[in-house]
Amino acid sequence: MLCSPEVIIRVEDLVYSYDSVKALDGLTFEINRGEFVGLVGPNGSGKTTLLNCLCKLYTPQEGSIHLNGHNLKDLTPLEGAKIYAVVPSEFPADMNISIVDTVLLGRHPYFEGFWWESEHDEQIVSGAMERLNVLDFANRKLGELSSGEKQRVLIAKALAQEAKILLIDEPVAYLDLGYQLEVMEMLTRLADEGVTILAAMHQLNLAVKYCDKLIVLDKGKLVACGKPQDVVTQRLIEDVYGIKAIIKNIPRAGLTIIPLSTSNNGGMFDRENRKERTIGFNKAKARSGRVDV
Ligand SMILES: Nc1ncnc2c1ncn2[C@@H]1O[C@H](COP(=O)(O)OP(=O)(O)O)[C@@H](O)[C@H]1O
Ligand SMILES: [Mg+2]
Repeated sequence: MLCSPEVIIRVEDLVYSYDSVKALDGLTFEINRGEFVGLVGPNGSGKTTLLNCLCKLYTPQEGSIHLNGHNLKDLTPLEGAKIYAVVPSEFPADMNISIVDTVLLGRHPYFEGFWWESEHDEQIVSGAMERLNVLDFANRKLGELSSGEKQRVLIAKALAQEAKILLIDEPVAYLDLGYQLEVMEMLTRLADEGVTILAAMHQLNLAVKYCDKLIVLDKGKLVACGKPQDVVTQRLIEDVYGIKAIIKNIPRAGLTIIPLSTSNNGGMFDRENRKERTIGFNKAKARSGRVDV
C-alpha cells in the first residue's frame, strides 16, 4: 500500500501478544514526517512493545506497519537502519566499548565492504557528540558512565545514523531537570529539521509542552491520538492513570497537569493531615507496644 507523501509511519490494526498477554490490541494511527510524537500511557500499557514492533525486533501477529512508504516486513535490516534508529531505555551496564566507538556504530548502515570510517563519518559522529554534550568523555567506556550520560551517548549514536525516524524509549528517564529540557529541546529542533520522532515517555508535562502530537495507550489499546491540548483532559487522566488532576494553562509554562491524588483518595491528598494521621497511627501502635514515637 502506498502512503501519502507526508505520512511516514502508518500502523493498521496492529496486534502483538506475548504468550498469554495481548500487549497491543488493534492499534491504528498515522504519524506525519517531522512530527514529534509522545507515546504515553501507564506502565504496562504497551509502549515498549509498540516501539519494538516498529523497529522489527518483534513481529506482530496481525496488522501492518508502513515506514516511509515501505512495508516493514519487506525491509532488510540495513535498509531499515537508514529509515529508523532506536534508542532503547535499557542497555547492558558492563559494555566495554568507548563512547566514540559507540556513536560510530551509528554509521554502520553506510559502510560498504570493509569498515573504514571516512572524514564525513567522523564529522557526523563528532557533530552528534557535540549536540548531546558527550565529547568530553569520548574515550571513556560506556559501562563507566551514569545512566543519564549513557542515554545521551545512545541518542548521539541514533543521530549519527541519520535516520528519518527516531524511536526512543523514555528519552529523559534518567536525566536531571536541565538535561531533560535540553534533550526535549534538541528533539524539537530535530523534528523541525524533518526528522520524525516517536518517544515513549512518562513525563506528561514535558510531552504536552514539546510534542506536536500524543498517542495515548491503555492496556494495549489506543485511547487517544491528537494534539496535546485536545487530548489531555481531566477525564482522560483519571480514566487512564486513575488519578485526579487539575489541568491549567499557566503563563509561560503552558498547559500543565497538576496531579492531586489517586482517584480512590477522594480527590485530595493533604500532606499535613497525613502527617497528623501518621503520628496518631504511630501513637496507637506505640500504645500497643509495637513502635516508638
Ligand atoms: N517479554 C515479555 N513477556 C511477557 N509479557 C510481556 C513481556 N514484555 C512485556 N510484557 C507485557 O506486555 C504488556 C505491555 O508491556 P510494555 O510494552 O513493556 O509496556 P510499557 O512499555 O508501556 O510499560 C504488559 O502487560 C507487560 O507485562
Ligand atoms: Mg516500557
